[in-house]
Amino acid sequence: MRNRVEVMHGVNLDQLGRRDPAHYGSLTLEELELQISGMARELGLEVRFLQTNHEGKFVEHLHRLSGLTDGIVLNPGAWTHYSYAIRDALELTGLPAIEVHLSDVDAREAWRRNSVITDLCLKRVSGKGPDGYRDALERLKAEFAE
Ligand code: DQA
Repeated sequence: MRNRVEVMHGVNLDQLGRRDPAHYGSLTLEELELQISGMARELGLEVRFLQTNHEGKFVEHLHRLSGLTDGIVLNPGAWTHYSYAIRDALELTGLPAIEVHLSDVDAREAWRRNSVITDLCLKRVSGKGPDGYRDALERLKAEFAE
């Protein structure tokens, strides 16, 4: 039974708690990860986390995931909007993935509406804050049960 999920946070997500609370709320990344761990436990999923501000590290982590996890929840931060390197690496994993954004990216600046990974993902969740991660985990759980 597949139950392993890699939760990947990209650039500037380590600054949660200092970023505009109107968009991102007031949780720190550590607090957010704790909440996600609780959600995963309730769903019977096993989560591991990565956050980095280095695009190459994010890419290399994706390279290593095959066989180590069953699915990916990723919030690449601003890389979402332009990093074809991350897109290519995500595609290479061949793993089911869900794109998450804390803020409502479609209701902000025009450049945030573009995502170079959406079509590779089973689902895109945006503007639901931490609860968006529950939606993402539930969607992966449903996928694992297929
Ligand atoms: C974000 C939205 C991105 O546009 C932004 O660059 C981020 C965070 C979000 O979670 O809402 O860093 O991915």
